Amino acid sequence: ETVEGQFSIIGELKNIFKKSLIKSYPESSDFNIEVVISSQPKYGDYQCNSAMALSKILKESGTKVSPVEVAKTLIGNIPANEIIELLSTAGPGFINITLSQKFVVRQIANMCLEGVSPPKVDKKKVVIDFSSPNIAKEMHVGHLRSTIIGDSLARLLEYLGHDVVRLNHVGDWGTQFGMLLAHLNDKYPDYLNNPLPIGDLQAFYKESKKRFDEDAEFKKRAYAAVVELQAHDPDQTKRWQLICDTSRKEFQKIYDRLDIKLTERGESFYQDSMKRIVEDLKQKNLLVYEEGRYVMFPQKEGLNPLTVVKSDGGYTYDTSDIAALCHRLEVEKADWIIYVTDLGQSSHFESLFDCMEHAGYIDKNRVRIDHVGFGVVLGENKKRLKTRSGDTIRLVDLLDEGIKKSMDKLIEKNRDSVMSPEELEQAKTSVAYGCIKYADLSNNRKGDYIFSFDKMLEDKGNTAVYLLYMYTRIRSIARLANVEPKQLLNYAKNKGIKIEDPKEIKLAKEILKFYDVIQKITDDLLLHSLCEYLYNISTVFSDFYDSCYCVEKDRNTGEVIKVNMDRMLLCEVTANILAKCFDILGLKPVNRM
Ligand code: ARG
Repeated sequence: ETVEGQFSIIGELKNIFKKSLIKSYPESSDFNIEVVISSQPKYGDYQCNSAMALSKILKESGTKVSPVEVAKTLIGNIPANEIIELLSTAGPGFINITLSQKFVVRQIANMCLEGVSPPKVDKKKVVIDFSSPNIAKEMHVGHLRSTIIGDSLARLLEYLGHDVVRLNHVGDWGTQFGMLLAHLNDKYPDYLNNPLPIGDLQAFYKESKKRFDEDAEFKKRAYAAVVELQAHDPDQTKRWQLICDTSRKEFQKIYDRLDIKLTERGESFYQDSMKRIVEDLKQKNLLVYEEGRYVMFPQKEGLNPLTVVKSDGGYTYDTSDIAALCHRLEVEKADWIIYVTDLGQSSHFESLFDCMEHAGYIDKNRVRIDHVGFGVVLGENKKRLKTRSGDTIRLVDLLDEGIKKSMDKLIEKNRDSVMSPEELEQAKTSVAYGCIKYADLSNNRKGDYIFSFDKMLEDKGNTAVYLLYMYTRIRSIARLANVEPKQLLNYAKNKGIKIEDPKEIKLAKEILKFYDVIQKITDDLLLHSLCEYLYNISTVFSDFYDSCYCVEKDRNTGEVIKVNMDRMLLCEVTANILAKCFDILGLKPVNRM
């Protein structure tokens, strides 16, 4: 049996073991067999540790077999396949799996010819809602995390061949606009004919908020302004539009610098459909009238109700999320919807998903829905990241500081003396934005993470700088050997690839784990595993390169006298794997740094 293309080896081993399970213990064929990468080389390449649990289950249903026997039976019934070379039992019933050398060589050879091709998947329509800052407010570090994580997930899913819609669910509707419009009216009465740029929209927001909180009369006018806006009053709509444009331009600067593609579809987009959906929910008797508001209670206990209609008749964040979800299901026909926000919103999304399932909008068997939550960004003092004066950090300032620090670092290493101004410029931005993204992505998103330029700019350890540098190092080997990618391709086509030395084999097997990692992060959406993998493959490569000559030079003249083409191919594939990982993480490697 041959499996075509590239694929997760763990996934395929599970399939193989499943077949053996069905043959060995048909009564327990539902049992979920786990295969993992071996913790130590002496346990083979992969391990199956399920015999223990399986033996227990069999015992419960009256069949007494020891874990070791179970392991042996499973091994005995493994169908003929081309992946496994050796199976052995160890300890209380572990199964150690060694890959077939022929299989490893074939997969690497394919990768030489076809590049790091994506594994085959069922194509899905995926909507991913990320970044989503609020109009008139500054985009803060929480939105930066959402932007970085969301973009990387979108890149992953695009690589897999899914049809991905990247949506920016900006906060462009709701009560905050009442106070902005009312304040605008007082301060710039002629705003429509004479549209002043609101120089510092954030300060303007703060002023409005202060008046809103302190002045009851102003508050009334603010509410009236929202009503006018929601009733599509032309002048208020124009003012609203101008405010949105100002914010939008600010946000776009950040997206351009970080190379983030997003389609804006904010809360206001759903204004009209909200009415219709609220009616539908009322008809289905799903709303409860409580203290002047309409709320919807989730089925699961302990979850907060959604506020669907406020006492003044207005809609809320909850209402627009209900409408957005419906739109994504009905109009976008999404098979998979992902929301990337801080973990503080977990209960909001739990309530939302619960209510929408109960209302019959979500069919859990057909769509996958994930809330991808993340922790807080901390400063080096382990408190929420703030400026010295305690204000929220402006993202532009943060990016500027990154650029400055990365340039300082390059100059400190005297790189300015060997690189052209263009190369230096490229290296500077690649390192600055790369390190900010990587520091975020390499930490488990569910935890808080400490933002430190000093740490992220270190050139040792699991940092963007170390990895980008490793990439340039591998690329420089090809320059040194003076072999073109085309020559390598021809060699691979005509001669295939030989992989013999233990360090070569180790590197080859590490390369193939790429597809296991891709499978894992597609399941759990935890991108730090990809970063860990990137770091591991870099150290394995280092090990290989230190002991396996790729290019031999004459000791005296320094002239290249021998190039090992098989090893050059391994270098090439490793570099391509690194490049693919960078691509998924949104990092831009450079040829020199
Ligand atoms: N604007 C919200 C915030 O800044 C995030 C929106 C996330 N997406 C959503 N569909 N609720 O917190």
